[in-house]
Amino acid sequence: MSKRIEDFKVIGNKRITSDFYVLELSGNDKLPEIKPGQFVQVRVDGSPETFLRRPISIHDVDYERNTIRLLIQVVGKGTEVLANLKTGDPLNIIYPLGNSFGDPLKNDNIILIGGGCGIAPLLYLGRHLKSNGFAPDILLGFRNRERIIEYEEYSEIGNVFITTEDGSVGEKGYVTSHSVLSKVRYDRIYCCGPDSMMKAVAGYSVRNNINCEVSLENLMACGIGVCLCCIVDTVRGNLCSCTDGPVFNIKDLKW
Ligand SMILES: Cc1cc2nc3c(=O)[nH]c(=O)nc-3n(C[C@H](O)[C@H](O)[C@H](O)COP(=O)(O)OP(=O)(O)OC[C@H]3O[C@@H](n4cnc5c(N)ncnc54)[C@H](O)[C@@H]3O)c2cc1C
Ligand code: FES
Repeated sequence: MSKRIEDFKVIGNKRITSDFYVLELSGNDKLPEIKPGQFVQVRVDGSPETFLRRPISIHDVDYERNTIRLLIQVVGKGTEVLANLKTGDPLNIIYPLGNSFGDPLKNDNIILIGGGCGIAPLLYLGRHLKSNGFAPDILLGFRNRERIIEYEEYSEIGNVFITTEDGSVGEKGYVTSHSVLSKVRYDRIYCCGPDSMMKAVAGYSVRNNINCEVSLENLMACGIGVCLCCIVDTVRGNLCSCTDGPVFNIKDLKW
């Protein structure tokens, strides 16, 4: 699939918690096919510290309006600049990058599991699955009530189960301790979140013989397979997370 470098226009930038923003971008040219799990490399203009582009998952796509949405968590200078973009500002991106989540089998019972900012690629994946006749469950983990984001959006896709570390909403604890995982037999898990969470979900999947894909958020520089700074150790040797991933089946990872 060919990659594009394009100036998008900011048509909205909504703060949804103290450090999360949803950035809506409109393309000049008709959007190409974008697969769930793919990401963009954003050029952060106007600051010498952010020479390298920043990788951000494609959170949602609206082909009718020719827009994409990005879910941004402010963690440093680059994401701070993105959080401060105003309607009408240009934003240069390279996209669509990376592979994508694999297709499920026809009768698969599916659950999407995400934590924190890692929920970002699961919204577009969920919409894609729903439009293809699947009814995935969604299990999202957050630190506390204040950090829950996009509950309504995920509810449009399927049943949403929540864990919070302090028990303020949903079940107390981490996603892997949620009771739905012991009550329902799933055939397929799609997961994105902190490494520790994905490793715990991978362990649960192995123990229960469930097909599981995770989307890694390794540090990246070029995003197009040139610099080799995003290498992942797999059973097929060293692979680039930016081009061979970011989505990997856990069977391939040496975790
Ligand atoms: C494939 C992929 C998809 C991503 N999707 C999203 C997304 O949808 N929304 C989003 O907000 N962020 C996402 N990220 C993470 C995002 O790229 C980084 O948070 C961002 O580059 C940080 O830039 P900065 O200049 O704000 O912070 P920096 O100053 O570069 O870093 C600030 C701190 O964040 C840490 N950090 C930077 N990148 C990462 C990372 N990839 N994982 C863990 N810690 C990191 C740094 O080590 C440092 O401690 C994704 C990363 C990858 C690889
Ligand atoms: S980020 Fe450069 S090779 Fe992957």
